[in-house]
Amino acid sequence: MIKPIVTRILSMLCIIALITACQEERKPIEFPPTDLAEGNMIPKPLKVIPTNKAFGLDRYTAIHTNQKDEGFAEIGHYLADKIKAKIDLDIPVNEEGTNPIERIIYINQSDSLELKAPESYQLYITQDSIIINSNTAVGAFRGIQTLRQIIPEVGNDTLAEQRIWPIPSGKIIDRPTFGFRGAMLDVARHFFSVADVKKYIDLLAYYKINVLHLHLTDDQGWRIEIKSWPKLTEIGGATEVGGESGGFYTQEDYKEIVAYAARHHMTIIPEVDMPGHTNAASVSYPFLNGNGKIVKPYEGTHVGFSTFDTRKDTVYAFIDDVVREISAITPGPYFHIGGDESHVTKKNDYIHFVEKVEKIVQKHGKRMIGWDEIASAKVDTTSISQYWSNGKNAQKAVKRGMKIILSPAKKAYLDMQYDSLSKHGLHWAAYIPVDSAYIWTPEEYEGIPMDNILGIEAPLWSETISNIGELEYLAFPRIIGYSELGWTTKENRDWENYKVRLANQTPYLDRHKVNFYASPLIDWKKNENTNGNEPQDE
Ligand code: ACM
Repeated sequence: MIKPIVTRILSMLCIIALITACQEERKPIEFPPTDLAEGNMIPKPLKVIPTNKAFGLDRYTAIHTNQKDEGFAEIGHYLADKIKAKIDLDIPVNEEGTNPIERIIYINQSDSLELKAPESYQLYITQDSIIINSNTAVGAFRGIQTLRQIIPEVGNDTLAEQRIWPIPSGKIIDRPTFGFRGAMLDVARHFFSVADVKKYIDLLAYYKINVLHLHLTDDQGWRIEIKSWPKLTEIGGATEVGGESGGFYTQEDYKEIVAYAARHHMTIIPEVDMPGHTNAASVSYPFLNGNGKIVKPYEGTHVGFSTFDTRKDTVYAFIDDVVREISAITPGPYFHIGGDESHVTKKNDYIHFVEKVEKIVQKHGKRMIGWDEIASAKVDTTSISQYWSNGKNAQKAVKRGMKIILSPAKKAYLDMQYDSLSKHGLHWAAYIPVDSAYIWTPEEYEGIPMDNILGIEAPLWSETISNIGELEYLAFPRIIGYSELGWTTKENRDWENYKVRLANQTPYLDRHKVNFYASPLIDWKKNENTNGNEPQDE
């Protein structure tokens, strides 16, 4: 009798020991208080409510997404890739991983009325789970950027056996002020490769910028293949400022950029600048040019000397082909016709031209955008004016009931030098130091009613830059401030507070090898990277 009793007691003890061991493993990890409000978040969200605990991101974490909408699963994989690149942690997505799962990041589709605003999302972080709720995949994508920004760079090795990255707990409710938050890249004065553009897209998406406008043609170069007019790239694509080699995107290259942007929930806007800024087109096909001079390739930086012949039917047949071919491979709703600085086009000819080209753009299913000069023509209310220089033109656009994209050169041009010592850039509109770029109010700019403002865009003209490092020097850190001007409410913006969050971007920018201008106005955080891993490209 004694033996079976001992055996039974022993086996009971074993079970108790096992349960205790299991319970110990499941015990919530005690984190030192972490404050969500102290994060690195740019643009600053609408509301942040900290609860001073933490979610432990570790190898027992998994991502689950809504599986009805493919976009959500794609975002789940995107997040897993970014976590892997940042902290070298493998997280399974919608599947069992190799480790038992203790904590979950959910990416949910929700029809809640609170989430009706485009791109809105909510982020709930508790000790056990992170829940991202959004109506649409695009909102979830914006929410993922916020989450990426608050994952610590360095893990903690003392809280448990495994390394843990504590993410501060709390709730974030967020949506953008403007639906249009753009950057423009001039690939005409100097050409930038598909890889360069993709890197720019990666960086812009992290700051929730959702439009990339490509200035594809100018006097110095034509950068997009038009199959029905091959000399545009054969001849017009071979030059650039300073006599360097030029280049162009085949339609396949362009589609690759568009698809890459779409995966980052970003719209590409193609610009074919006309009737001025057209020397490269007229060198390729001299019939386009109306001022009777022999057209020679141009690799300088002057503006305002070229024009299409606005009274020739063949010019409009040419434009029809160009707009048709580009529109067919551009899923976004916009086509930008330029329209700036046509100083050698007679006023009446200019107006005639813009009105005719608007019809062509509309025929190919797109909404026309033009620089602010286009408001001198009788354009449709659906067309959009991009305010860069002339306040009177902006007021004309308001009178016409048009939407306006704000890109005032003296505030938003990324090619303006920071100060007189800047290595690259120009200063014809202003020097734009990092504080001046941030401290202005697009919502109340020069009396333009908020109802007319579609959003803001920061153009980067490339007369003085010819590679990605130089591009980054001018764009960063100012573009980060423009992302906040476009997203964050004016009540939530404050230079002193922004300055600290900007200083905290160093690890991210360094990890991505961004050649940002380390403005002395900012007390840049020292880069304490590392997890013991080599930094990787995300
Ligand atoms: C412009 O800067 N010419 C639009």
